[in-house]
Amino acid sequence: MRRARAPPVRLFIAEIEGRDCGHVAAWGGRDGIGLVEWVYLVPEARRRGIASALVAHAVEDARGHGAELVLIAPLEGSYDVPRRCYAALGFRPWFRTTRYLRACLSTLSTQRESGPLLTPLRGRCGMRRSHPSNEAPMSAPFDLSVTDKLLSTTRAVRKRLDLERPVPRGVLLECIALSQQAPTGSNSQTWRWLIVSDPDKRAELARMYKEGGAGYLDMARQQLGDEATQTKRVYDSAFWLVENLARVPVHVIPCMIGRLPEGAANVAAASMYGSIFPAVWSFQLALRSRGLGSTLTTLHLFQEAEAAKLLGIPDGVSQVGLLPVAYTQGTEFKPAQRDAPETITHFDTWAD
Ligand SMILES: Cc1cc2nc3c(=O)[nH]c(=O)nc-3n(C[C@H](O)[C@H](O)[C@H](O)COP(=O)(O)O)c2cc1C
Repeated sequence: MRRARAPPVRLFIAEIEGRDCGHVAAWGGRDGIGLVEWVYLVPEARRRGIASALVAHAVEDARGHGAELVLIAPLEGSYDVPRRCYAALGFRPWFRTTRYLRACLSTLSTQRESGPLLTPLRGRCGMRRSHPSNEAPMSAPFDLSVTDKLLSTTRAVRKRLDLERPVPRGVLLECIALSQQAPTGSNSQTWRWLIVSDPDKRAELARMYKEGGAGYLDMARQQLGDEATQTKRVYDSAFWLVENLARVPVHVIPCMIGRLPEGAANVAAASMYGSIFPAVWSFQLALRSRGLGSTLTTLHLFQEAEAAKLLGIPDGVSQVGLLPVAYTQGTEFKPAQRDAPETITHFDTWAD
């Protein structure tokens, strides 16, 4: 039994053409548990995918406030959202609850659903938050509790890298093979990967990283306002990496054949870097799925030419970053706090 302090509740209201048509409440997960309840829709708004959109929104909100496990408690005796909607969002039945009330004392008695107890799958989060629409909810072709967890918890890992455990080449090649499924402009596939495990070369790369990066990080940290606590933590972690990069067992340098011409147009820059970073991210996701972690870093690129000389990288090849790679200490990572997507998204026009 743990005593949990009540986290703040957030209420979301759905609108159709300016008229309120339903609501949902999300309780953030101070203890890693979130609760979504009070789903309600006026009758004319039902069967239009709005309940799913509301619940998805609330689930993501709870996840964004620290909930790793999300429970949905439908409002008894009220609008009953079809079970298939919850299933499509990655939820499974867990408990049926009955409420008892006596004077000022309220308790919950819990009965199991018939059949074996099913662990609730984690609710969807992150990317599938949808705008209320007329579309019917579709059943997902993947287990969203797994894919969404992978996408929302693949963090920049530094201090939790296991510096002692060796990383087999086979695992790295497996992750590179997966990264090769990423898109490239004109199907160019000009990606190349350089894996550095030699301790002397890692020490040299770490020296270059520090030379280029420490001053930059220091300056950037000084410019932070008092409110930027999350970013301050990132800088602490980034400084740790500056001091410990040489000890990380593998440095992976993604490269591309070709260089961006001086003063290149945005279209050229987007096409070039856009043909490598999707692969880099796929590589990082594949690492995470296998219990390894990494951080995309770019600071050694201040010394790109020196690194090219050290590693024999020919002229005309661009290094785009350096990923310190290792197994992670533990595999549980949390989603980061992010702004609601509505605050960064425009529909049809920027001026909405
Ligand atoms: C283009 C790019 C360059 C980055 N360069 C560095 C870097 O040089 N050093 C570092 O420690 N982290 C670097 N990062 C990692 C970011 O600090 C990190 O992604 C960010 O703080 C958010 O943390 P999260 O990925 O865990 O959400 C870089 C990330 C990106 C996308």
